Amino acid sequence: MDANRVIVFDTTLRDGEQSPGASMSVEDKIAIACQLERLNVDVIEAGFPISSDAQFEGVRLVAQKVRTPTVCGLARCVDQDIDKAAAALEKAAKPRIHTFIATSKIHMDKKFRKSEDEILEMAIKGVRRAKSYCDDIEFSPEDSARTGKEFLYRIVEAAIDAGATTINIPDTVGYANPEEFGQLINDIYARVPNMHNAILSVHCHNDLGLAVANTLAAVRNGAQQVEVTINGIGERAGNCSLEEVVMALKTRQAYYGKYTEIKTEEIVKTSRLVSTVTGMIVQPNKAIVGVNAFAHEAGIHQDAMLKDRTTYEIMTPESVGWGDTKIVMGRHSGRHGLKSRLEDLGYNLSKDELDKVYERFLNVADKKKEVFDADLEALVGDEVQDFEEAYRLDYFHILSGDKVLPTATIALRHKNEIIQEASVGDGPVDAAFKAIDKIIDEPVKLIDYTLQALTSGKEAMGEVHVTITNNGRKFVGRGASTDVIEASIRAYLHAHNKLRHAQPKSV
Ligand code: KIV
Ligand code: ZN
Repeated sequence: MDANRVIVFDTTLRDGEQSPGASMSVEDKIAIACQLERLNVDVIEAGFPISSDAQFEGVRLVAQKVRTPTVCGLARCVDQDIDKAAAALEKAAKPRIHTFIATSKIHMDKKFRKSEDEILEMAIKGVRRAKSYCDDIEFSPEDSARTGKEFLYRIVEAAIDAGATTINIPDTVGYANPEEFGQLINDIYARVPNMHNAILSVHCHNDLGLAVANTLAAVRNGAQQVEVTINGIGERAGNCSLEEVVMALKTRQAYYGKYTEIKTEEIVKTSRLVSTVTGMIVQPNKAIVGVNAFAHEAGIHQDAMLKDRTTYEIMTPESVGWGDTKIVMGRHSGRHGLKSRLEDLGYNLSKDELDKVYERFLNVADKKKEVFDADLEALVGDEVQDFEEAYRLDYFHILSGDKVLPTATIALRHKNEIIQEASVGDGPVDAAFKAIDKIIDEPVKLIDYTLQALTSGKEAMGEVHVTITNNGRKFVGRGASTDVIEASIRAYLHAHNKLRHAQPKSV
């Protein structure tokens, strides 16, 4: 491998999914994995197969679907974990088993009550067992950043001798700072005699907001693989963000002297997909993928930008996949114009799908003079599902005000029938959700609701994410509209439809 190439290991589907509230269905995982393949990541960590049947199935199906990237499954240094990971990866074109064990004193004492020698033994056994299934083995000494250095060198050397091809150094609790983490990587190269026989990887958490800085410091000191997630999602404060590290390496190529194979134009689309699936909205000022990341507000800045964009822009919005934000469509653009613009954005819709999107587009274009790419993408997200929707919105009527009881009437189309119900509620959205509950009659609990503007300006479309639970399972729905109540209704229905889809087909 070219010494200057940095391997991008994406763990959105494993560590990212460990974000509170971010659980993903198997279909969601496949959709994200396909997009990660388009983004051209090198490795997709698809899940932790032993942890549940759904995790096993997620890894198995991603391994079957994805061809270009390596697909990886996580396993503790325990026989059953490793066997299960190997089984889930059976159909992978390029399988990798990632096995880990904690090595810091606090973890060894409190979690395992085991000595260094016992942990070392487990690591060697785990790597050897994984190696009996495939060649590509990653080993992580969990909590490396708080592990005694001498023991870390010993266990890394032993894991490589046992067959590990990648050694991952995690800052599991986000404790390190850039200088010392960079030094740690440097020291590992200096003190582990066989380190050059394996790839050195880093995996940083963001508890102190330093995950990206620590990862870049590691790269400066020779780390060849970075473990990252889209939008930086992950346990607690999250993981190192893919988009930030990749764009730092690209924008400051002359400084780092390194590159990745990421197709950076796919970044925004991937970010939006992950946000939609998990219901975790991206903060507006988030680097690279926040809606304000390329917005120039101050008059002086705008003036300079008109003279030369590079005055205030260190990378172009197009380079990370922000579409042209000028007006793309209007009421008179026509079906053909819409089809061709959607194709430019990468959507090849069937006739039925295009009909549905076109109907919604006309509706939005009536209310909003300027229809942006982000609006079109939201409409596609609403109308094009990878499963048949059991319920579709036919119409809604809301009565609300400060002196009336908020009341909603909702009509849904279900199996060629229109079913209508009305309800009062604490507010118009609550009333609408209660009316839907009367029609669908499936006990759910609403546990999260977020509303975000998709674009700027007073005519912006609102995007709503809701999370509902049913029998311990979570379903995230999203909906978009110029009317926030309609967006809420669509999001709630989307979540209900996902729940319905996950049930046995006879229901
Ligand atoms: O943060 C961590 O230590 C991990 C390991 C499993 C690599 O996620
Ligand atoms: Zn982690």
